[in-house]
Amino acid sequence: MPELSKVIVTPMRPEEAEAVSALVAEIISALPYYNERARREEVAKYTPERLRSLVAEEPEAVLLARANHDVCGFAISHYDDGLIWIAWFGVRPDWRRRGIGTQLLAAVEETAPRRRAHKIWCDTRTENLISQQLLQKAGYKKNRHSHKSLVRTRFLSLGKTSAITPHFQLPPAKTFYA
Ligand SMILES: CC(C)(COP(=O)(O)OP(=O)(O)OC[C@H]1O[C@@H](n2cnc3c(N)ncnc32)[C@H](O)[C@@H]1OP(=O)(O)O)[C@@H](O)C(=O)NCCC(=O)NCCS
Repeated sequence: MPELSKVIVTPMRPEEAEAVSALVAEIISALPYYNERARREEVAKYTPERLRSLVAEEPEAVLLARANHDVCGFAISHYDDGLIWIAWFGVRPDWRRRGIGTQLLAAVEETAPRRRAHKIWCDTRTENLISQQLLQKAGYKKNRHSHKSLVRTRFLSLGKTSAITPHFQLPPAKTFYA
């Protein structure tokens, strides 16, 4: 197994969508927090076509953790009204507990200025204590407005400008962040 330092996180390429869709399905299908119907519905959201369409719209919407040539984890997110929503992140079972989930979250965070987002949100099942622990360890705080959402308030510093500037007044990202 490669060293952790060799694990890198980069965006999904369209031609990888089939393999990533299969990995997402494998990880979601094994989750104990969902019933059969919920698992089916979640898996159905991440077909290869949908993944390709997500990256066509936002190139960094699907990030992959890679160890040599193997994909060992993913983070799927989308931008909405100044926020990045993390829809799912997951790590192959044999790669867990080596910091890759944390690395994926950090990589999503790095995309925020380019996507002109000022916060990152992630809903997680209340029973998913592992996910909650990971998010909290990475600096996410429980959102006061929803007991099951975690919002990364630490991230406000990155979003300071967009938080005080109406979204429609934000200049193009390239100019703004140059
Ligand atoms: C949640 C998940 C992505 C974590 O990935 P990971 O690469 O193992 O996470 P990390 O190694 O970065 O763990 C960071 C911290 O999270 C907590 N954590 C992770 N796995 C844990 C476990 N099995 N039990 C208890 N705490 C755990 C620990 O605090 C850990 O830090 P430590 O190893 O120093 O104690 C992985 O377990 C997974 O794919 N689960 C199924 C999918 C899922 O639930 N996704 C999240 C919902 S969107």
